[in-house]
Amino acid sequence: MKTLLKIQASLFGDQGQSSQLANRFIERWRAQHPQARIVVRDLSANPVPHLTAERFQAFLTKPEERTPAQQAIVNESDSLIRELKEADVIVFAIPMYNFNVPSTVRAYFDHIARAGVTFRYTEQGAEGLIKGKKTYVFVSRGGIYPEGADTEVPYIKQFLGFIGLTDLEIIVAQGLDMGAESRARALTAAHERIAGLVPLRTVAA
Ligand SMILES: Cc1cc2nc3c(=O)[nH]c(=O)nc-3n(C[C@H](O)[C@H](O)[C@H](O)COP(=O)(O)O)c2cc1C
Repeated sequence: MKTLLKIQASLFGDQGQSSQLANRFIERWRAQHPQARIVVRDLSANPVPHLTAERFQAFLTKPEERTPAQQAIVNESDSLIRELKEADVIVFAIPMYNFNVPSTVRAYFDHIARAGVTFRYTEQGAEGLIKGKKTYVFVSRGGIYPEGADTEVPYIKQFLGFIGLTDLEIIVAQGLDMGAESRARALTAAHERIAGLVPLRTVAA
């Protein structure tokens, strides 16, 4: 049985544009994998705390030397990482807030980037340790950012690649707040992309 993990971050929950695009994709994907388990992590409804000095120190402390409070902090991070490792397919729904991913996504990234657990450095450079997972990222934004002026997608690619998520499909719907025409154009293009990613199978009579 396959597991799909959806990680969403819109302030508007399932009504958010990014969530709606991800949900559209998931509906089609589910039609092909009716037995699949869908796990949802909503970073807006249940934000991960900021990475404080105390939290980071807990990550650095050897397991046998951790206090119970430090162990509880590490357990939270471990369970986020376990959730990623247990997924076969990962779907991110990420709006642009103030020119990059929402701060809830940053805090989440801070908790899943763990040296020796999700990445390591070798003589050849960094190696991501969460491998072999197809990852879909749905990005929504009000304005339009051409390549070179986009501060969000390159960051997402760099971070996910760093922990090993390199098999990426990134679907960007932009210009969503620039009038009805711009919005309709962006959504139509995103819907077409989704249809191309998960064609609906025709059922033989
Ligand atoms: C707090 C906040 C900050 C935003 N900052 C930006 C921004 O920097 N650039 C932009 O193009 N749109 C910005 N927007 C518009 C959103 O990216 C746009 O409405 C997007 O569709 C929101 O996705 P969502 O519905 O999934 O939350 C912002 C919206 C909010 C609520």
